[in-house]
Amino acid sequence: MKALILSGGKGTRLRPLTYTGAKQLVPVANKPILWYGIEAIAAAGIREIGIVIGPETGEEVKVKTGNGDGFGVNITYILQEKPAGIAHAVKVARDFLQDSPFILYLGDNLIRDRLQEFLAKFQQQQLDGLILLREVKNPSAFGVATVDDRGRILQLIEKPKNPPSNLALVGVYFFDSSIHQAIATIQPSARGELEITDAIQTLISQQHNVQAMQLSGWWLDTGKKDDLLEANHIVLDEFLETKISGNLDEHSQIYGRVEVSEGTQLINCTIRGPAIVGKNCHLENCFIGPYSSIANNVTIIDTDIDHSVILSGAKIVNIHQRIVDSLIGRKAQLILAPKRPKALRFMVGDDCKIELQ
Ligand code: DAU
Repeated sequence: MKALILSGGKGTRLRPLTYTGAKQLVPVANKPILWYGIEAIAAAGIREIGIVIGPETGEEVKVKTGNGDGFGVNITYILQEKPAGIAHAVKVARDFLQDSPFILYLGDNLIRDRLQEFLAKFQQQQLDGLILLREVKNPSAFGVATVDDRGRILQLIEKPKNPPSNLALVGVYFFDSSIHQAIATIQPSARGELEITDAIQTLISQQHNVQAMQLSGWWLDTGKKDDLLEANHIVLDEFLETKISGNLDEHSQIYGRVEVSEGTQLINCTIRGPAIVGKNCHLENCFIGPYSSIANNVTIIDTDIDHSVILSGAKIVNIHQRIVDSLIGRKAQLILAPKRPKALRFMVGDDCKIELQ
């Protein structure tokens, strides 16, 4: 069994952050989204992982993620010249996959359930394909499945305008080698992509044994700002443990589950968990509220932050109002003059600088 993680694509929905970085490297609780997938696959006992990368952001993914030693796996990087679809990415990875069965894992998906249970069903029942489904409120944003009373798949359709059900396809799939023949027969969709949904539909139409299981835990597709904040909220809520390695002065206080990493200074700050602060940060006269993730090398002075994700190297100074529900890009600067406006809500890209006079 191998695994193929997709970490190419354009990431248009997370712009401007994705102008300068891969969307799969945006952190959730200070860890790149992509790494959660690698860890889940490693935990399922799979050692051979291919990661599909694109020309713009591939180098960054490679440098940050490495050869897999840190995860106990072997990683092979596979370049997809253009984001021509999920099924296209599988085609590009054929040399790596050979005829091995594999897990296809979309690099911007996070799921609560462990992969072991699904893998066991796929292997024990010798399925040609196993897909995972989850009820959603906005099915037209996803691939959608209709299933009969016994849970058998009747039809799959990608991003339908009038969804026939509210069961979305989760971005984690299990395939044997028959998927390659199915991919060879499909044509690009209206959005110009080779859709994996169409390839699975082909398998079903050809009477291959494709089954579906429903997820019991949460599933997050971190494509947009609010999805990312929700993912950050849920992961901090469920997994964060208290660990204080930085320095707090005698006026600083910490409540609840909080992680503060090495080299970080807190001067006259209050942090209310669950919240995480990375390495080498300088926080002074701040309140950091629940569900906030502050990455490495961040400076925050005279500012309150709540339910927000702040990426590395950002500098936020003198914003006396509370910053909420915000995603602040790498090295972004928010610096406020003493006279200030009434309400602020930000989604600021990497390297931006905002000075409100
Ligand atoms: O998240 C689940 C959904 O993922 C499914 O419900 C849909 O059926 C499936 O088509 C897919 O839809 P998205 O529109 O969300 O896929 P997206 O274009 O965001 O790509 C998913 C991941 O795959 C993302 O990490 C980028 C990567 N990718 C995508 C394409 C199109 C590639 O590496 N290469 C590509 O060519």
